[in-house]
Amino acid sequence: MIFDTHAHYDDEAFDPDREELLASLAGAGIRAVANVGASLESCRTTIELTKRYPWMYGVLGVHPSETGELTDEGLSWIGKEAENREKIVAIGEIGLDYYWEEPDHEIQKKWFIRQLELARELRLPVVIHSRDAAKDTLDIMKEQKAGEIGGVIHCFSYSREMAREYLNMGFYLGIGGVVTFKNAKKLKEVVEYMPLDRLVLETDCPYLSPVPNRGKRNSSLNIPFVIAEIAQIKGIPSKAVEEAAWENAFKLYRMKPEVTG
Ligand code: NI
Repeated sequence: MIFDTHAHYDDEAFDPDREELLASLAGAGIRAVANVGASLESCRTTIELTKRYPWMYGVLGVHPSETGELTDEGLSWIGKEAENREKIVAIGEIGLDYYWEEPDHEIQKKWFIRQLELARELRLPVVIHSRDAAKDTLDIMKEQKAGEIGGVIHCFSYSREMAREYLNMGFYLGIGGVVTFKNAKKLKEVVEYMPLDRLVLETDCPYLSPVPNRGKRNSSLNIPFVIAEIAQIKGIPSKAVEEAAWENAFKLYRMKPEVTG
């Protein structure tokens, strides 16, 4: 059984066939999905998805690239929704993204810290997005004692040394389609190095489709390609990867396995 710990099924890429696609997941062994908010609007659509599908869970937060729109009011709305809805399992995706010029780094940092504080207050784990901002992300997480909050570094893309820092903090690492890319040497090394009990599977769909579907729209149906690649790197059976990742996902989001399907 597979838990896709990071998906964006509210994305417009799924507008033509969302219902049909989601209905097909259970038959392919995808038994739980966490839909992740990235803006205030997608937090709303994430909540709608969790109401609609019993196996769909929600993560609420504002992505660093969207923090220009965030206000105290917006943040307190997220807090209320996350606190009062049983199927909201984490705060995210939050973090720093220096790949794009905007918003200003100081704005990104401010809302990253505020959302970490919110997660701490609500006793929820965090889903971290960090791109081209390795040092600042780690510095803030250490300052904020993020190890006490817990969570996952989604779409982990840094070095083995950086992986060790987050593993020492007790964080999980989210592994998805990128691990199947030929040029993903660094990530393959991280997967080889990291303990299996800290690995969770994710798609980040509609983005980052694995080989052999690279470049196409991604969905949870592609996760078996990711599992096969991880199994090969670690020299263990695919089944072992799948089972471990399933259990890890429930630990990450602090859910009981019996709550799903
Ligand atoms: Ni994402």
